[in-house]
Amino acid sequence: MDRTIRALVAVEGLDAFDVQRALPDDPTFQLLGVTEGVDETIKALQNREADVLLVACQGREDDRSVQIIDGAHRTAPNMPIIVLSTASPNGFLRRAFEAGAADMALFPQSKDQLRFVMSKAIARAPRRGGSGGEGGEGRLICVLGPKGGTGKTLTSTNLAVALALAGQKVLVIDLDLQFGDVALCLGLPPEKTIYDLAVSGGSLDEDKLHDYVMTHDTGVDVLLAPARPDQASAITIDLLRDVLVIARAQYDHVIADTPPGFTAEVIATIDASSDLVMVGTLDSLSLKNTKLGLETLSLMDYDQEKIQLVLNRADTRVGISQHDVVAVLGREPNIYIPSDREIPRAVNEGVPVTLSRPQSYAASSFHDLAALFTAGATPVGEPAVAAAPSRSLFRLRRK
Ligand SMILES: Nc1ncnc2c1ncn2[C@@H]1O[C@H](COP(=O)(O)OP(=O)(O)OP(=O)(O)O)[C@@H](O)[C@H]1O
Ligand SMILES: [Mg+2]
Repeated sequence: MDRTIRALVAVEGLDAFDVQRALPDDPTFQLLGVTEGVDETIKALQNREADVLLVACQGREDDRSVQIIDGAHRTAPNMPIIVLSTASPNGFLRRAFEAGAADMALFPQSKDQLRFVMSKAIARAPRRGGSGGEGGEGRLICVLGPKGGTGKTLTSTNLAVALALAGQKVLVIDLDLQFGDVALCLGLPPEKTIYDLAVSGGSLDEDKLHDYVMTHDTGVDVLLAPARPDQASAITIDLLRDVLVIARAQYDHVIADTPPGFTAEVIATIDASSDLVMVGTLDSLSLKNTKLGLETLSLMDYDQEKIQLVLNRADTRVGISQHDVVAVLGREPNIYIPSDREIPRAVNEGVPVTLSRPQSYAASSFHDLAALFTAGATPVGEPAVAAAPSRSLFRLRRK
């Protein structure tokens, strides 16, 4: 599925023909019009529904384009505005961003690069109409855990299956580039991996991404981690960013499984994500690390309301009460997953527990997690966390 970008272009102090010539000219780019000045731009925005506004200007300190950005941002607050300027003095940039610009690129710029800047800005913009996957970009859910072995891969794979069973189009990307084991957990042979994609050459688009994914029986697509750790370095952050933008345009949900900690890939994915799932386990060391992880995300200015907290092995009798958990983490987990002997067995057999034991408590926890992300569960702009936490194992145990 190739998503058409409908763009309006406002030109200030540059030759409109030069600007138009620099725009993408493939059928997936639709130029809605070229305007000059504030009034004409606002009128065009009111009449046509644009995905993005490009403001092409000289970027002078006294540039009138800042008024265009300001007027356009007030008219269509959710529409990303990209500044294309021939210069980028600090004073101008600050004013442009204050007025509501989402991104800037130096002009001239290659057509591919322009398309990428637009796709990225559209992917990051607050959604209009629909909570992901409905006409716009899908969610990018980054599954995180500050420490190894907390259950990130278990959560990523079972969340993916639960979403697919709910009729969603899902891609899992294994970003544990050195020791990824999504393939094992889903029983997929590593015939094609992200490494093959990285070394394939040429530019990346929807068809190409499709050529390198493996498809699970449930319909879940998977971009596997490299087969050998030494291949990990072939995957650059720039490639990853491109993959994420292109994937979100095609899938309702893109789930990124990550290695422990905040590696460069993880930070880039957090930055591009719409939601996070933080997976911790019920022991005091893990809780401390989970708290540190939440604090790190807060330092990164990540909206805490978009973080779903999953407490794994939550029924372990280790002398930690729910009260202790909330006291340490400062919030109640959204989802509790019990320890279950079936889980390691399911991992060994390469069949996620949502399929091997669909009636189990663990499986229902993953369906509860999926329900937090499916359409309708979260009104536009509302935090997904608004949904009630799953049945607490603490509460169940007391019964
Ligand atoms: N709730 C559970 N009950 C039983 N076993 C579990 C549970 N959660 C995880 N495990 C087991 O713990 C191991 C680690 O889980 P998983 O691979 O999902 O963790 P991870 O956070 O992805 O680890 P890594 O950081 O190494 O990638 C697996 O063998 C899995 O079967
Ligand atoms: Mg893992």
